[in-house]
Amino acid sequence: MRKAAILIATILAGGSVGSALAKPLTYVLPDETAELRPAKHPGFEAAQNNCLACHSADYVLTQPPKSGPGFWQATVTKMVKVYRAPIDEADAKAISDYLAQTY
Ligand code: HEC
Repeated sequence: MRKAAILIATILAGGSVGSALAKPLTYVLPDETAELRPAKHPGFEAAQNNCLACHSADYVLTQPPKSGPGFWQATVTKMVKVYRAPIDEADAKAISDYLAQTY
């Protein structure tokens, strides 16, 4: 019982101190730094247009290097089928080609 009373007193005290010190909070988010590696490949632009809508390029950059065409095809297919990325077949093919060649 005594413990509960102390707890309530603490919350009340904390609350009033908090509001007395309250001031507008401003903060700046860090810039997005991860970028897809540029390449003279039609899939590069397609990837920029289609692969950064839901998550950052980090998802691509952190995959094991030289994962190969099979891996990238499967990944792009998963984005379309499982996560419903609206990417047409031609773009999906160009993107997996670009990724397999570039990463
Ligand atoms: C509609 C949203 C969406 C789009 C568009 C999208 N992704 Fe994803 N992606 C996801 C989600 C959701 C995950 C899983 C996130 C998690 O597990 O934390 C993911 C995960 C990944 C991963 C991590 C490995 C894995 O298999 O989970 C890679 C690599 C990836 N995406 C690549 C791509 C590429 C390449 C494209 C463009 C073809 C793309 N994504 C477009 C939603 C999307």
